[in-house]
Amino acid sequence: MQLAFRRYESDDQPQVEEIWSLSFFGGSPLPDFVPFCADGQSVFVAEDVAEPGRILAAYKLHHLTAWRGSSYVDGADDDRDGVYLTNDGVGLVGVRPEVRQTGVGGKLLRWGLAEMRGRGTHFSSLYAFSEAYYRRLGWESTGTRVQIFCPNKRMPRLKVNLPVRQLTADQWPLLEAAYDRFARRYCGMSRRSQVRWDRVLRPKDPNDPVIYALGDPVESYVVLNANRAGWNDQTIVEFVWTSVESYRSALGFLANLGINQRSLVWQEPSDGPFRYTHHDKTVEQHLIPPPQFRIVDVPGAIGALRTNASGEFRFQLSDEQLPENDGPWRVAFSPAGVNVTPCDEADLHFSVQTLTQAVLGEPSLATLVARGYVRSHSESATAAATALLTEQRVYCLEIF
Ligand SMILES: CC(C)(COP(=O)(O)OP(=O)(O)OC[C@H]1O[C@@H](n2cnc3c(N)ncnc32)[C@H](O)[C@@H]1OP(=O)(O)O)[C@@H](O)C(=O)NCCC(=O)NCCS
Repeated sequence: MQLAFRRYESDDQPQVEEIWSLSFFGGSPLPDFVPFCADGQSVFVAEDVAEPGRILAAYKLHHLTAWRGSSYVDGADDDRDGVYLTNDGVGLVGVRPEVRQTGVGGKLLRWGLAEMRGRGTHFSSLYAFSEAYYRRLGWESTGTRVQIFCPNKRMPRLKVNLPVRQLTADQWPLLEAAYDRFARRYCGMSRRSQVRWDRVLRPKDPNDPVIYALGDPVESYVVLNANRAGWNDQTIVEFVWTSVESYRSALGFLANLGINQRSLVWQEPSDGPFRYTHHDKTVEQHLIPPPQFRIVDVPGAIGALRTNASGEFRFQLSDEQLPENDGPWRVAFSPAGVNVTPCDEADLHFSVQTLTQAVLGEPSLATLVARGYVRSHSESATAAATALLTEQRVYCLEIF
């Protein structure tokens, strides 16, 4: 089957909506919280060349960013300690049921990677229906999401030392400073525009969302889906804190809020305060799938990094989907900038997946080398590379 790939045109919309409806919404119309193509989004399609105008598959890109800190700073105040890399979030990948498993989805995604690289996108990310499917195309699970499932009676009873107020979705600017501080602590977090806030705070139910902010200015906040019936599992959609103290106040508040619920459920990154300071064997803590990231433009992404260190190393990778990324590459870095140029030989050998993890920072390059996932012929090259690609915690709060 011959396919043509392109950005959607307005005539395609009914067919794309039909594919998404069949793939994700049981044949029902798209819900209001899924706009067809809002600001900051693009939709791409695969068309059957033999039957012009017939759309066989589609997906949506959310144009996001991904923070990459240079050192493990606690909420850097400006961009000197890191950089927001461009990051296209892939969502709603859907193929007409009658042509599934014939290569259409894979070809559309492969074409999409070249399209992203052509626009200078550094990274792509997604939440996979199957990690194995996207791993074959170069995406890899990066970072950690710990889901904490805490029965009400096990919630730590902590004093709420900050004033608590309920906010409405249009008051999101009051949350922005706390979010930004949190985002600069975790690689992979996106800078949020109004469109992104709308996506997170857009109601799925007429009573959604319920937002509680602690402190003035806001030091921590929680976003909940409305849960009017008592004795349920209350899910916290987003939990952000700027310090241990503001986390403790928020947890104390959640214990009060959940007093008539069976349990509270929320997520934290791998260095989350619950694990470090409230571990309790009666509370379930599960590792749930983190997003998969993929480096799209190797010299572009590495060349955009910020660092206070200086050094040089050479590395090789082979990228079957994007051969333009194939090395070897020489990386020379200093506080003045990072230079990535082609060279002849390599000291370190990456797959697309391990390079993605090392550039974002979890698992770190140091761990990847020590455990044999990345091969190195030179200790000095490893030392230089780990000075640039420092260990970080990777986390992502975007929904797409
Ligand atoms: C998932 C989907 C997009 C894949 O597209 P597709 O065109 O059907 O799949 P492709 O033909 O590109 O790929 C098929 C290959 O993937 C493999 N594959 C399929 N499902 C897989 C899975 N769950 N895990 C790993 N590999 C898988 C197949 O074995 C096949 O491998 P082969 O090429 O070696 O034979 C499509 O089936 C679909 O629309 N599904 C419903 C919606 C959905 O789940 N979307 C994903 C949202 S993240």
